[in-house]
Amino acid sequence: MSLVGEHAEAFERCMRVGGVAVFAADTVYGLACDADERVAVERLYRFKRRRLDKPSAVMLFDVALALTALPELGEATREGLRRLLPGGVTLLLPNPAKRFPLACGDDPTTLGLRVPVVPALAGVRWPVLQSSANRAGGPDARELSEVPAPIRRAADLVLDGGRLPGTPSTVIDLRAYEDSGEWRIVREGAVSAAVVDAALDGRYRFDPAGYMDMIREDIPAYDRFQDELTEVSGADVERVLELGTGTGETAARLLDRHPRARLVGVDENAAMLAAARARLPADRTSLRVARLQDPLPPGPFDLVASALCVHHLDGAEKRSLFARVRDALGPRGRFVLADVVVPEDATTARIELTPGFDRPDSVADQLRWLRDAGFSRARVSWCDADLAVVVAELA
Ligand SMILES: C[S@@+](CC[C@H](N)C(=O)[O-])C[C@H]1O[C@@H](n2cnc3c(N)ncnc32)[C@H](O)[C@@H]1O
Repeated sequence: MSLVGEHAEAFERCMRVGGVAVFAADTVYGLACDADERVAVERLYRFKRRRLDKPSAVMLFDVALALTALPELGEATREGLRRLLPGGVTLLLPNPAKRFPLACGDDPTTLGLRVPVVPALAGVRWPVLQSSANRAGGPDARELSEVPAPIRRAADLVLDGGRLPGTPSTVIDLRAYEDSGEWRIVREGAVSAAVVDAALDGRYRFDPAGYMDMIREDIPAYDRFQDELTEVSGADVERVLELGTGTGETAARLLDRHPRARLVGVDENAAMLAAARARLPADRTSLRVARLQDPLPPGPFDLVASALCVHHLDGAEKRSLFARVRDALGPRGRFVLADVVVPEDATTARIELTPGFDRPDSVADQLRWLRDAGFSRARVSWCDADLAVVVAELA
């Protein structure tokens, strides 16, 4: 067996029997034990002379395992995790279910999470409680020899990973990220603020405060376009799924038009949805932070509608979405897609596009993809240069 496999196996065995290990993380040397084994945790804290009311972090060695272990995390936070992990960051997360309480110190509602890049421990599935391999307040160990000798002697397993970068993880507070999109660096470290910023905020995000002014300036036909969508949204509609709800402009019109309807709205931007939540009737609306590329909320829906959002997906993503929309619709369900398109005559395009962010396709391509997805009738109900409203129905 390779050294990599040997280390992972020895490490997992040590965790399973309640031992404490010294190991090489991707930053500095660390101490680890079973995250749910009180006796082992107390021993680890004694080695460090750290008070038990001080928090540590839970470490997993695989991002998918971490996401599975924390099912309460909302979609925006999960997406943030996917963009930041694995790597040299410790993420402070909301922990409403009080998971891994031994790692939380005196605040069980906040959990620190680490998913490092440690090839020698790839394949380890045990969630461990981890802390740096030093005395509380002492210097971090970059080499095994810098781990205090009493700690090395007392540990049940000592894994030498050679010389490490020596800078501890960057600690990022993501507890408000789900609701407001806000995050904060609590301790600077191995991963720079610019990298964190690019991962969490790097791409353009709509700002709810200036949205209406901005969109009406960019798209003078905005209100007409919304009316066209509402006009072809059908009759007797009770269950609506809206893709890209934003601040709730389209949702508000649809709820007005269909007094018996309840609407599920999806958008990747938590701040935009917070504005929608403030204006839409709570008893008729359920809003979720999620990407259109993620699984859609379970149907069946009578109507799936989307305005000015699907053009952010590339061609393959649009095709995948159209198939998932078909599956989310009930019999005789209808999909109304109102969006920016590539016009037949390119010189008639009026809307300014941001490369990589706006990715419109032609109406002809989208009608074909809708039919390929299983819609029996797909037609253009309104078109004005680079704006179009398309209606697709199931037989
Ligand atoms: C131009 S706004 C449209 C909002 C609303 N439908 C309207 O017509 O005013 C586009 C919305 O799509 C959301 N969005 C963009 N790409 C997305 C994606 N891949 N998944 C989910 N939402 C996305 C943005 O966050 C934004 O709120």
